[in-house]
Amino acid sequence: MSLMISQTEYSRRRRELMRQLAPNSIAIVAAAHETIRNRDTHYLFRQDSDFFYLSGFAEPDAVLLMLPGREQGEVIFFCRDRDPSKEMWDGRRVGPEGLTRHYGAEDAFPIDDIDDILPGLMEGRDRVYYSLGRNPSFDNRLMSWLNSIRGKANAGAEPPEEFVDLDHLLHDMRLYKSDAELAIMQRAADISTAAHCRAMQVCRPGMMEYQLDAEIQHTFAMAGARHPAYPSIVGGGANGCILHYIENSEPLLEGDLVLIDAGCELGNYASDITRTFPVNGRFSKEQAALYQVVLDAQQAAFNEIAPGKDWNASHLAAVRVLCQGLLDHGLLRGDLEALLEQGAYSEFYMHRTGHWLGLDVHDVGDYRVGGEWRELEPGMVMTVEPGLYVAPDNLNVEAKWRGIGIRIEDDVVVTESGCRVLTSGVPKTIGEIEALMAEARE
Ligand code: GLY
Ligand code: MN
Ligand code: MN
Repeated sequence: MSLMISQTEYSRRRRELMRQLAPNSIAIVAAAHETIRNRDTHYLFRQDSDFFYLSGFAEPDAVLLMLPGREQGEVIFFCRDRDPSKEMWDGRRVGPEGLTRHYGAEDAFPIDDIDDILPGLMEGRDRVYYSLGRNPSFDNRLMSWLNSIRGKANAGAEPPEEFVDLDHLLHDMRLYKSDAELAIMQRAADISTAAHCRAMQVCRPGMMEYQLDAEIQHTFAMAGARHPAYPSIVGGGANGCILHYIENSEPLLEGDLVLIDAGCELGNYASDITRTFPVNGRFSKEQAALYQVVLDAQQAAFNEIAPGKDWNASHLAAVRVLCQGLLDHGLLRGDLEALLEQGAYSEFYMHRTGHWLGLDVHDVGDYRVGGEWRELEPGMVMTVEPGLYVAPDNLNVEAKWRGIGIRIEDDVVVTESGCRVLTSGVPKTIGEIEALMAEARE
């Protein structure tokens, strides 16, 4: 299977969305725009995921309109016009003609003409589907187009009467991954897998956290995944207890663990892996004890991922194992059920066990439906990432546990009968990790 989403699939997505829209409506989806870093330098551009999901078009300053039932064409794009002098400085542009030829636009116009054209397309439509509140400058423009129609009401113009949030319909579609999406996500997972293996192989006491990060980024890029899906977390020792530690600026010390949470983005799809391993290649007794608890918690979570199980079941299963482990090792005292009830584990485990994964690392999709936890269904992709974090200044536990931070995170797809782990190639048991690290030191 080709590692691309075909134009046929993008067109199918737009049709499927339009099928769900009310008659005589219009849906408006804006691309991301470039953000200035300073003067004429921009932050790395990343397309808006909703826009990308429906178009595959990666340029800034574009707008997609879907007008179900419109005879002259249902799919209309606005984009930057071709401009040889701008293209010489800033790179190639597809242009309206290219969008018609290659991206399934039935009509395409220069973005500079949008003020003249869009109000006319919105006028007479009963309902506008749009994600209000995410792009304030585009929200303002939309309101100005609406007002320009209202201003002509006495000449017979009919402004739309209803604005409806597009997120609900679109994000539900994004939650179910197609075979083509799963193929890309598997490849992203494979590349991240190779990067984590590399980190285990090259890690030595005295290296800097950012040097491990560099090895990871290099592995990503050399495999064709040019960018991470989120800033890598490489935390040695107690830095592993800071959930989103991204400074990655300290030395890795003999006797410490290092927690690496890193995943590449490929074709705009994210992967998200965490491994925690000993800097010197051998787990200490305490590190191994807590590590095994987290690993067991992850297995308990996997066992609760299958069609018909609800979203929260895997979290509850993980929390139960983590809490029992904290009791077994004397970090908590009391009765398991009472501790679970009180959430006493939250001092050591303060995040949830996973999230949806897709075009965004924390992907879209509702976790509850009608007030109940959502039932899992085939094609949903999620992470499973239990952890234990003993703060270095936690005086309620013996000193030997302090500063140990562990997370183990894998990406899974729900299948017909359970789940498949996309990231199973990274060593995870204590034995496997120590063996890979020892082999690399021979
Ligand atoms: N890398 C962010 C997370 O694991 O959710
Ligand atoms: Mn995650
Ligand atoms: Mn992660």
